[in-house]
Amino acid sequence: MRISVIGCGYLGAVHAACMAKLGHDVVGIDVDSQKVAQLSGARAPFYEPELDALLTELEASGRLRFTTDMAAAAGCEVHFVCVGTPQKRGENAADLRFVDAAVAGLAGYLSPGDVVAGKSTVPVGTAERLAELIAETQPGATLLWNPEFLREGHAISDTLRPDRFVYGVPDGNEDHPAVAVLDQVYDAALSTGTPRLVMGYATAELVKTAANSFLATKISFINAMAEVCEATGADVSRLADAIGMDDRIGRKFLNAGIGFGGGCLPKDIRAFMARAGELGADQALTFLREVDAINMRRRTRVVELARELCGGSLLGQRVAVLGAAFKPESDDVRDSPALSAAAQLQLQGAVVTVTDPQALDNAAKRFPELPLEPELDAALDRADAVLLLTEWKQYRELDPHATRALVRVPRILDGRNVLDPAKWRAAGWTYRGLGRP
Ligand code: UDX
Repeated sequence: MRISVIGCGYLGAVHAACMAKLGHDVVGIDVDSQKVAQLSGARAPFYEPELDALLTELEASGRLRFTTDMAAAAGCEVHFVCVGTPQKRGENAADLRFVDAAVAGLAGYLSPGDVVAGKSTVPVGTAERLAELIAETQPGATLLWNPEFLREGHAISDTLRPDRFVYGVPDGNEDHPAVAVLDQVYDAALSTGTPRLVMGYATAELVKTAANSFLATKISFINAMAEVCEATGADVSRLADAIGMDDRIGRKFLNAGIGFGGGCLPKDIRAFMARAGELGADQALTFLREVDAINMRRRTRVVELARELCGGSLLGQRVAVLGAAFKPESDDVRDSPALSAAAQLQLQGAVVTVTDPQALDNAAKRFPELPLEPELDAALDRADAVLLLTEWKQYRELDPHATRALVRVPRILDGRNVLDPAKWRAAGWTYRGLGRP
């Protein structure tokens, strides 16, 4: 099929490449000429494992190209809207400027029978409004809402082999001809039995925000348990292992630590609360305020623990921060708990050095005053305390004996609870975890 993808950020670039991988003929469209130039040279503007190789393969096949010209959408049968919906400055609500501009720009190039599939995460009610906008220009085109659940670091497999497809259709009508068109796009995954759920616009929009809210709540739940564990000397990791064995609870997303960050969970729960307020349903989501507060308290707790570890004062203490990205296998530093803690430590007088295998360029843009060091050994050199804040494999696998030879004082704060405390203590380290004795 001929497909256009509007917006070539994380979601769009991966989606465009994956659609071409499925055999479709794809054009990715973005207003950022630098991004388009990079993608056209088969280089992703962000780090995502295996994406560059996929871009190289598909650009060579002739099935994938990128442009800044919206006119390239003319003649495509399906148009995916993948632009960002960031948090508004100084407000909780989502900023819909980019979605509105993308749909307005696209509308003039649509033909009767075309399907526009919205993938961006939007406040409930947006699809209905955008459908009216499209109908004013091209009444023969149909808008579907087709949320995306991809995780950074696993974006390609999540797109090619999702857990489920969600189609929001006008009036929730499963027989709408646009459903068959989208089925054709996703035929490869559908034919292997991937479930596909058809529902109304509002439900489809809510599926995405509800899923992210649930994930955020699960993480904050276990982090709240970590606070209680800290007050009692209990171990939150063992607690998570035990409660996670109940199928109804499950062990995934029960890792206590410095909390969640990134470009999705924090802003999505805030936008959800803001939207519920507009709808007069704010009481239903007041618990998300607590979810957010628990998450933010973790960052403060890490700084407090680091101070304790350093004997009561951070002044002049050399602190090595391992990790800048909001999670491993990503160079994304948006709302990164690691960087936010590192900046606080520095403000409180510590001599901080941050290292990360992928995210230092982005970290430098966000926090130009934080000293960054690409070499792990150099970051550890003569440290008074080591803080593991993003659980990259190379940090999880650090050898306590070899590491001890590099630092000045063997103190480690495991902000993700991924190290074996017994092993580190046996090697002479003072070990602290979050919610662990
Ligand atoms: C998330 C959703 O998982 C995805 O479905 C949605 O489409 C976009 O938002 P992503 O932002 O890539 O994806 O990251 P995710 O893997 O969900 O992790 C989010 C944050 O939670 C990270 O900072 C991670 O470190 C943290 N986390 C995750 C925990 O603190 N504990 C856990 O047990 C799991």
